[in-house]
Amino acid sequence: VTSSLVIPAAGSGARLGRSVPKALVELAGVPLLVRTLERLACSAKFVETVVLAPAASIDALSEVVDRVADAQARALGSVRVVAGGATRQQSVAIGIAALRERSAVVCVHDAARPFVAPATVRAVLGAARAHGAATAASRPSDSVRIDEAGGSSAALERSRLWLVETPQAFTRELLERAHAEAAREGREFTDDASLVEAAGATIRVVASEGRNIKVTVEADLVLGEELLRRQAG
Ligand code: C5P
Repeated sequence: VTSSLVIPAAGSGARLGRSVPKALVELAGVPLLVRTLERLACSAKFVETVVLAPAASIDALSEVVDRVADAQARALGSVRVVAGGATRQQSVAIGIAALRERSAVVCVHDAARPFVAPATVRAVLGAARAHGAATAASRPSDSVRIDEAGGSSAALERSRLWLVETPQAFTRELLERAHAEAAREGREFTDDASLVEAAGATIRVVASEGRNIKVTVEADLVLGEELLRRQAG
């Protein structure tokens, strides 16, 4: 079964407070985008990869993509960097439209999650092949409450809650249909599993192995360097 890869990396990373796009921010000397692509490449084989870049930074991201080691770049198939959209959902839609191969499965993974375990990527791809739609996720470590009417709140059952991450993977036709439907209805979702679910599909959850953090604020870079030290040791 063939798989294609879509990497949303078009965010500005405003919450990191850097002047460069988040995908270019370095973690122990290596840009996040390079780390993320190398992690995906050592997890599975893809026939093609589309990276969504901020429109003003296509050249800078392309240059960084060329830094992916040759041995690993082969596992990404043909790699293209194209301009993303105004929202993550629009960026993914552009990425899907840019795919040239008619792969069975499309995997979407945020550039901002460079620590994903190869076993997680493989499990998500496997679940998508078997069931059509899957996402990586982790259990919350905090208790979670939900707003109720009249300024009240209610406890949720933590053991049944999942914090949704990427990678997410879907059969290509399902993902294309769900994005077309969301665009037609003008609905905006924060992740593709929610968007595909709104189109009528059910989503398999795969528990992430290890910590699959999303680099969002400066403190995540500090934690990230520590995770790298441990993974290397
Ligand atoms: O902002 P946040 O961290 O939630 O973004 C998740 C991912 O979506 C990031 O990798 C970011 O680069 C990407 N993104 C995008 N296009 C946008 C906004 C975010 O590709 N317009």
